[in-house]
Amino acid sequence: MTLSVKGKEKANGAADTYELPWVEKYRPHVLDDIVGNTETIERLKVIARDGNCPHIIISGMPGIGKTTSIHCLAHQLLGDAYKEGVLELNASDERGIDVVRNKIKTFAQKKVTLPPGRHKIIILDEADSMTAGAQQALRRTMEIFSNTTRFCLACNMSNKIIEPIQSRCAILRYAKLRDAEILKRLLEICEAEKVQYNDDGLTALIFTSEGDMRQAINNLQSTWSGFGFVSGDNVFKVCDQPHPITVQAIIRACTKGDINDAMDKLSELWAQGYSAVDIVVTIFRVVKTSDELPEYTKLEFIKEIGFTHMRILEGVGTLIQLGGLMARLCKMNMKPELLRI
Ligand SMILES: Nc1ncnc2c1ncn2[C@@H]1O[C@H](COP(=O)(O)OP(=O)(O)OP(=O)(O)O)[C@@H](O)[C@H]1O
Ligand SMILES: [Mg+2]
Repeated sequence: MTLSVKGKEKANGAADTYELPWVEKYRPHVLDDIVGNTETIERLKVIARDGNCPHIIISGMPGIGKTTSIHCLAHQLLGDAYKEGVLELNASDERGIDVVRNKIKTFAQKKVTLPPGRHKIIILDEADSMTAGAQQALRRTMEIFSNTTRFCLACNMSNKIIEPIQSRCAILRYAKLRDAEILKRLLEICEAEKVQYNDDGLTALIFTSEGDMRQAINNLQSTWSGFGFVSGDNVFKVCDQPHPITVQAIIRACTKGDINDAMDKLSELWAQGYSAVDIVVTIFRVVKTSDELPEYTKLEFIKEIGFTHMRILEGVGTLIQLGGLMARLCKMNMKPELLRI
């Protein structure tokens, strides 16, 4: 696959020239370039080809390609008429009832020359931030102008879109991107930008991004321009997260019931200035992805980590709470005779 690249090519070296953020530079321009969520994207491709676009809502986590997909779809449907035939309103625009009454209605009534069989498109990005009143005002508008205009909505939480609008639209749900999908895109960008990396670095990028492509690309760029080499250590320095290797060592100490070792390593992390939330979230991710722990232990660990997370979010983010977690995890793995008083 070839990447369509806007902006200037960078020869080599780190932050020596001004450049676009890579998330924008490598924003896909056609549906074919979007990775992940294959089935849903296939549906969009069929719509782009046949032109029979229903009203659609795309919902999902941040940074997984919702806005990008809608723009690609609109570009592929309308071609050169994109400028005339698309009205985009996002959360940075005023979108109260007045706008729905005036701007959207005026656009829907406007006469535009489009390719045969195509409709004007109104893109409402981040639609979950529209007030319920404004959404109510859309209901009838969507119906009255549906012979000339189609609505494409993107949102993080589809339950923030009122039911009547949901019932008028085809809802497409995007899942978090899989590790392999993020890796594929990162490799393409590394090649295009001539980034030097090692496997550890890519694994760290995937680990820290948690299925969010925007985050992965941003971290890649920050690490490359900050250190000139993408290695695991550098990525964790940029992301400012506790290093999973240290956290793995803590978990290993807990599975051996070695509280002293676990506490030592924990205090080390604490002394580096990480907050309790950072530490507990990393412990969770490490346990979740660990293939060393037996299933049962994993479940019990995650339960305890969850309780600690809750306490920390309630405001008790102290070393004592994390120490308590260590104690409980160790206790699960101690021989029963050691527990006798
Ligand atoms: N599936 C994907 N394939 C390729 N690149 C992607 C994908 N998802 C995200 N990206 C990259 O991340 C950037 C942001 O994507 P996009 O704006 O579509 O996210 P979003 O889903 O709309 O997020 P938000 O909910 O925060 O608005 C894009 O510019 C692109 O570089
Ligand atoms: Mg978006």
